[in-house]
Amino acid sequence: MMKKFKYYKSKDKLPSLDDVIDCSENNKHAVDKFTIDINKEIPNIGLKDLSDWNIYSLKDCPGLIIIKNPFTSLGQRYYIKKLLKDYTKNHPNNLLESRFKENVIKDFWTSWTEEVDQQQKNLIKKSMRWTTLGYHYDWTNKVYNEENKDEFPEELSRLVSVFAEVLNFNNFISEAAIINFYHIGSTLSAHTDHSEICHAPLFSISFGQSAVFLMGGSFKDADAVPILLNSGDVVIMSGRSRLNYHAVPRIFESESQTWNENDDTKNCSVLNPDDLKECISKESWKQFEKYLMDSRINVNVRQYKNKI
Ligand code: SIN
Repeated sequence: MMKKFKYYKSKDKLPSLDDVIDCSENNKHAVDKFTIDINKEIPNIGLKDLSDWNIYSLKDCPGLIIIKNPFTSLGQRYYIKKLLKDYTKNHPNNLLESRFKENVIKDFWTSWTEEVDQQQKNLIKKSMRWTTLGYHYDWTNKVYNEENKDEFPEELSRLVSVFAEVLNFNNFISEAAIINFYHIGSTLSAHTDHSEICHAPLFSISFGQSAVFLMGGSFKDADAVPILLNSGDVVIMSGRSRLNYHAVPRIFESESQTWNENDDTKNCSVLNPDDLKECISKESWKQFEKYLMDSRINVNVRQYKNKI
């Protein structure tokens, strides 16, 4: 894992992406097609028809499942807006009181969009690295705490429940999430997610620029598989892969902006109409587009407690 992390992170010598698994025809040796029941009914929450979903499992990593962008273009924009603007409001984040005023810490998006001093604007953007939702993760003690939680955002919970049901992971309850914000050049070092009592699958959804995601084994020294993650891709760490080491050594400019392809409202009828308008209007979307130019957002959702 560490060798590959260093290789893909390298700034001096651009790494070759030839060995990175992108689930295309070229990777037949590494992935299996994952079949689902395409006749299941799913709500109109910005997802493509089930018959258009492409799902894979990794041969070398039992339990790891990848759904290649199941979102409609507008669906992607809807959840990007939720993650950047709505879910960053009044939730714990890494912005420090010693560096930022209360309004910036409490409402990152408004502060960033309204800031006129370019230097301060860049600082706000680059400094925001994570926000937590539901049960708030205590990074120092690596625990969740019954006294430190908010209601989990309903629309994110509904989205993940649909992924869980389609894959036959029944009764998944979204209880905790971390939104990670990355910029070109950011990395996330190798770690495991083991603080949850319940090791139900972990759902990890990415938007914006692309990333090399490294999936390792149960020891840090074990070899890792490099996987390409593009906007809209969903990684599910279930079964034996749930507690494996993983990392993000590289963020890079994506080949296409699938979130910008069209304004088709097909399969979006259950989404909030005012929020949708904000994603369709060129004027209000401008700020989101600006943010995404060199950034990636990842939200990973966990079930924390044992099922009752
Ligand atoms: C994480 O493991 O916390 C995030 C993974 C990602 O950004 O894809």
